[in-house]
Parts: sequence; C-alpha cells; structure tokens
Amino acid sequence: MTNKEFIRDDGRKFDEIRPMKAKVGVVDNADGSAMFQFGKTIAIAAVYGPKKMHPQHAQNPKKGTLRCAYNMLSFSVEDRIRPGPSRRSTEISKITQWALEPVLMIDQFPNQVIDVHINILQASASTRCAGINAAIMALAHAGIPMKNIVSSISVGKIDKQLVVDVNKYEDSIFDEGEGATDIPFTFTGDGKISHLQLDGKISPEQFKEALELAKNGAKKIYEVQKKALKESLGEK
Ligand code: CDP
Repeated sequence: MTNKEFIRDDGRKFDEIRPMKAKVGVVDNADGSAMFQFGKTIAIAAVYGPKKMHPQHAQNPKKGTLRCAYNMLSFSVEDRIRPGPSRRSTEISKITQWALEPVLMIDQFPNQVIDVHINILQASASTRCAGINAAIMALAHAGIPMKNIVSSISVGKIDKQLVVDVNKYEDSIFDEGEGATDIPFTFTGDGKISHLQLDGKISPEQFKEALELAKNGAKKIYEVQKKALKESLGEK
C-alpha cells in the first residue's frame, strides 16, 4: 500500500507534482500556441487552422479533423534522438488526438483540418502528458470552441508505492524493475477520463488509488492551465 511518508529521489512527496510552468502565446506565427513544463520536461504546442483539408479526398463533410504530431527534438535527451517519426512518436500523436477530441467541438469545421504540432524541447519523463497539457491551451488560444479543457498526469508504481508525475529516474527504474507500472491519465475539466494508458500491472484496488491520485493531481494542473489562459487574455 502507498506510504504517505515516502520521499522520492528528488525530494518530492508521493503526491507532489514537479514545479509547473505554463504560458500561452509562445509562437507568433501559429494561430494558437502554448508551453507547459513539469520540472525538466518542456513541451511547446503550436496550432495551425482550422484550414481547408488537403488532399480533398481526406475531407470529412460531417466534421473537422484534428491532426496531432508529437515530436521529441534531437537535443531533448542526453543521447541525441534521430530526427523524424518513430513508432513511439506515431503512438503518442494518436493518443494525444484521442485525449483532446472529446472536449473539442470540431463538428463546427466540416472539410477542415486543425493541425497541432507538439515539440518536446527537454524530455525528463511524462512528455506525453506535458504535450497534451500544452496542446489544449494552444487550441483554446487558437479560438477552437471546446466544452472544457483537459489536464494530463502520470501515476507510477515503484514496487507497491504509488507516485504522481513520474520523473526520468523513476521512469528508468520502472523500465528495469519487475512489475513496473506507468499510467498516464488525461481528465476533462469535469473529471471524466479522456485518455488512459497502462504500461505494467496493477491490482484493481491499487488502480482505484492511482485514479484518485491522478484526479487530484489533474485538478492542480487545471488551475495552472486556467491561470495561464486568463493571463493571456489580460485577466487576473
Ligand atoms: O515521455 P513519456 O513518459 O510520455 O513517454 P515514455 O515513452 O515512457 O518515455 C519516458 C522518457 O524516456 C521520456 O520522457 C524521455 O525522458 C526518455 N526517452 C529517451 O530518453 N529516449 C527516447 N528515445 C524515448 C524516451
């Protein structure tokens, strides 16, 4: 069971998120953009559109298309990453699209496409969550109508201990350890899950605990995102 006194390698409590930063309006050329940071993990999202979908046969006359492209920059980790798409980036692009779609009112844009480019400037685990958090703010900045925003956070399990917002060290022990588990969650502002991945094993009881931890963490992220969005509108 989770030990509430557990102190992590970076000094955090089990339910403590790394210092967060969020800023809206960071790429002038984009229709909407935002930055989201968890400690050393930094994601920038830039939105282009809605614009006419090309090629024409890809157009959907019933609703708009959300197209997400997640990319980790070569210099974002110590071992340089080979530029260009990979299996991992293709998967994360797809799950990002699925995490965002439930709150977006893209039926208002038939035959059009909204492109979301997510670039990871620095990667220190939980990059998909940081990317989703930046993307929804960039979409709001681009004026895409939405029912709510989404907030994404990971929960990890080190042996039996649950922790929120997995860092690079924890991610590496998950990779080596037995029964290592990493669960990224995305919640809509009204507490529904729009994305959940489970890498590893967890009991149903402990999963419930992980869900509660993630939900509480997502509320803190939501406040940071909301503040950044308000600041971009000149509100306090
Ligand atoms: O980043 P996230 O936790 O969403 O996804 P992951 O696939 O579990 O990757 C965990 C971490 O491993 C990344 O955040 C990077 O810090 C690192 N990584 C890396 O160093 N090189 C790669 N090619 C992929 C990931």
